[in-house]
Amino acid sequence: MKSRFLTFFSVVAVVLVISCTKSGNDTNSLYIPTSADVTANATLPELQQGRALYVDNCGQCHGLYSPDNYTSSQWSGIISSMAPKTGMSSSEILLVKKYVTRGK
Ligand code: HEC
Repeated sequence: MKSRFLTFFSVVAVVLVISCTKSGNDTNSLYIPTSADVTANATLPELQQGRALYVDNCGQCHGLYSPDNYTSSQWSGIISSMAPKTGMSSSEILLVKKYVTRGK
């Protein structure tokens, strides 16, 4: 009887851990901008704001895709179709674009 309970609780624990690690808005794959990421097109504060806006606005319907999943030209198309789904202003959208394209 006791071992049945133990089995039950370990299954529950494993399921909980899996569902937590799988749930969206996983920011682990999102690079934290440093001075090494600065380009002619993007300052460090712009990249940092872009990351914050991305996390706040783009993970409501699905998980946060890693910036490295797509090329910068793919991101341009994605941002054009996704940004209107958010309440962001055009200057905020530009910052998100700078972040996901690493200032390209
Ligand atoms: C209102 C819900 C909603 C919001 C907000 C939203 N998306 Fe999406 N997103 C979707 C849906 C639905 C799909 C899948 C269908 C599609 O591609 O249109 C998707 C797909 C994606 C994909 C995968 C595209 C592909 O072809 O592989 C990326 C990347 C993405 N979104 C990025 C973003 C970014 C960046 C933002 C913030 C600017 C954002 N999404 C905000 C609903 C949303």
